[in-house]
Amino acid sequence: MEYQNILEEIHDALKNVPDKGTVPSYIPELEKISPDRLGLYLLTWNKEEYGTGDFDIPFSIQSISKVLSLAKALNFTGADLWKRVDVEPSGNPFNFLSLLELEKGIPRNPFINAGAIVVSDILLSHLEDPKRDFLNYIRELAEDDSITYNESVARSEKATGFRNAAAANLLKSFGNMNNKVDDVLDFYYYQCSLSMTCKQLAHTFYMFTNSGKNATGKTFLTPSQAKRINAIMLTCGFYDEAGEFAFEVGLPGKSGVGGGIVAIHPEKYCMVTWSPGLNEKGNSLLGMKALEMFTTKTGLSIF
Ligand code: DON
Repeated sequence: MEYQNILEEIHDALKNVPDKGTVPSYIPELEKISPDRLGLYLLTWNKEEYGTGDFDIPFSIQSISKVLSLAKALNFTGADLWKRVDVEPSGNPFNFLSLLELEKGIPRNPFINAGAIVVSDILLSHLEDPKRDFLNYIRELAEDDSITYNESVARSEKATGFRNAAAANLLKSFGNMNNKVDDVLDFYYYQCSLSMTCKQLAHTFYMFTNSGKNATGKTFLTPSQAKRINAIMLTCGFYDEAGEFAFEVGLPGKSGVGGGIVAIHPEKYCMVTWSPGLNEKGNSLLGMKALEMFTTKTGLSIF
C-alpha cells in the first residue's frame, strides 16, 4: 500500500479547507495555538513509519492521556478498578455532571472527566512520586526521554477548571476518592498537559495494536487488558460522538481538546492526527475527517 502518498493526498485535501473548527477557549493556554496546524502520522504493526505536515510538533494531548493513565492504573488494581468506574458510553459531553449524581459517584466510563479523575486518584495512591513516575512510564512506552509536561497548560487549566473541581468534589462526597481533592486535580491537570508529537503518540500507543507490548517487545498490559481498553476506546473514546466516529472511521480511538486523535487497528496500525480546531462535540474536526478518508482510501477499518 502506498501509505505515504495516501497521507499526502489527505493532507493536501484538508490543508486549505475554510472551516477548520474552533480552537477551545475554556483552557486559555490552548487558545494560543494556530488552527492551521495539521499533522498525520502512521506507525504500522510491522513498524513502518509515514508522516506528513506538522507530525513532529508537540501539542497538548489532553484527554488522550486518559487512555494511558487507565493502562497504568490497571497494572496496580487489575479488574478491581471496574468497581469504581463503569464501562458504558455516556452519550453526553466529557464534562457532564448530572449522571454522576444520579449514578451515586460511579462515573460512566474512564474517559469522561469524572472517570479519568477516579483513575488519577488510583495512580496517586500507588505511585511513589506520581508526576515523575507517570512521565517516566510514558517515556518508556514511547522510548523517548524528551517528552515533558507543559506546566503553563496545567496551570492554565487549574485556574479555570471549575467543572472538574465540581466533579472531583462530587466523587469525594460519594466516597469514590481516597486522596485530597486538590492533589488529585493537580495530578489530573499535569497528565492532561503532556506535550507530545503525532510521532511520539503513535509510538506510545503502539502497545494497543500489539496486545499490550510496546515496540521494543516489553509487556505493559496483558492481551486481555489491551483488548478491553480498545473496546472502551471504540465505545467511549469520543463522548457523545462515539457512534459517529465508529460509523465514519470504524476504529477504536481517543480524542483530546488539544486537537489530537489516536486511532488503533489491532495488529495493523496506529494512526495519529493533529488539527487544533474542534467540532461542536469537542473532537478535532479535520482529524476525524482525515481518519475517515484514511480508512475509506485504504479499506482498513475493523469492520
Ligand atoms: O479536563 C478537561 O476538560 C481537559 N483537561 C480534557 C478534556 C478533553 O480533552 C476532552 N476531549 N475531547
